[in-house]
Amino acid sequence: MVSSAQQARFEGKVAVVTGGSRGIGAAVARRLVREGAAVAVGYRDDQESAAALVAEVRAGGGRALAVRADVADPEQTGALIERAVAEFGRLDVLASCAGVEHFDTLDRITPADFDHVFAVNTRGQLFAAQHAAAHLGEGGRIVLTSSVSASKAFFGHTLYAASKAAVEAMVLNLSAELGRGGIAVNAIAPGGTATDMARENGANYLHPDLAGKQDLSEWLEVGVALRRLAEPAEIAAGYAFLASADAAYMTGRTLRIDGGMF
Ligand SMILES: NC(=O)c1ccc[n+]([C@@H]2O[C@H](COP(=O)([O-])OP(=O)(O)OC[C@H]3O[C@@H](n4cnc5c(N)ncnc54)[C@H](OP(=O)(O)O)[C@@H]3O)[C@@H](O)[C@H]2O)c1
Repeated sequence: MVSSAQQARFEGKVAVVTGGSRGIGAAVARRLVREGAAVAVGYRDDQESAAALVAEVRAGGGRALAVRADVADPEQTGALIERAVAEFGRLDVLASCAGVEHFDTLDRITPADFDHVFAVNTRGQLFAAQHAAAHLGEGGRIVLTSSVSASKAFFGHTLYAASKAAVEAMVLNLSAELGRGGIAVNAIAPGGTATDMARENGANYLHPDLAGKQDLSEWLEVGVALRRLAEPAEIAAGYAFLASADAAYMTGRTLRIDGGMF
């Protein structure tokens, strides 16, 4: 339940959510809207889901728009942010949720894989922060997306993990620069969360030596204290916290929300 005090946290504020069409990003957009924000929903391919989310928000009396922007192209991210500012008049929050998964062993990773994963997960988030920072004022908030994988090893997950570990270094170092303007920059490191990404890749998180001996739900029962995947809304609550005045003295940090992953 969102209390009335929480409902006011984003009243009059404007947020851009990249990766807002599905999964964690869609849950973040819904949460920010529910607490009063106007939200620009960034998407790459899934125009239908982004449009449905915007229609849902508008039907509930909220303000939202959907903007296609491939975050691998910083110019498109810049245009997304400009569009949000033109439509809603200001920018208070960037929630950078767009990301791609990758599993493969060292012998099979190609330079093209490296460039694609880093273009979206790392470079994409740095330039999203750059474009957002140009519009954010005192009290502005940037929330990037890392992963538990930045600090926990999984077989064949090197490229993705490295792309996310870089994000944790980014928020740590950007905090010094952006703090001078009163802007906070943090990251969320989600654990396994029930989204398309987890559905498509969940089995890859099992060590190959366990193939056929253990399934994902059995692994979750011993590897995660709360014994299940997160719901996207449970992760979105962390973004809302970092984007709000409740996190006024928090910057440069990565908040790991993983149900207690060992
Ligand atoms: N689910 C998990 O277990 C988990 C765990 C740790 C971290 N994460 C991270 O959390 C974030 C959200 O993950 P998710 O599970 O919600 O993923 P998801 O269900 O696969 O959704 C991915 C989202 O990112 C967007 N996207 C992908 N590539 C893009 C690009 N080049 N430009 C713009 N948007 C792009 C997609 O847009 P379209 O649909 O329009 O293509 C979609 O909205 C990601 O950064 C992911 O790495 C997820």
